[in-house]
Amino acid sequence: MAFEKHILICINQRPPKSPKGCCGDDGLAVRVAFVQELAKRGLINKVRANKTGCLDTCSMGPSVVIYPAGIWYKGVTPEDVPEIVETSIMGEGVVDGLQMSDAEFSARK
Ligand code: FES
Repeated sequence: MAFEKHILICINQRPPKSPKGCCGDDGLAVRVAFVQELAKRGLINKVRANKTGCLDTCSMGPSVVIYPAGIWYKGVTPEDVPEIVETSIMGEGVVDGLQMSDAEFSARK
């Protein structure tokens, strides 16, 4: 396998008054934080932090998904990134309070 893990970070942009909202620039800032954190930990060749389009969880964004574990995170900020990398990339755990529950995913808008 070329990369052991993938981090998908929504950076989808919508017009400012869109009722759906978007991850947009906040997602971009989160993606930069992931790239920097992976570089700091020497993980660039093992883990890929990819920009994505809409993950269909806009009202809970910025949205992040980690594969292959299939962990969905909501409302991620750049400040959350070191803990996510430590817990879900270096380890196999989930950061309390950031994980999107199945019920939240089902009720997404
Ligand atoms: S715009 Fe980011 S999940 Fe839809």
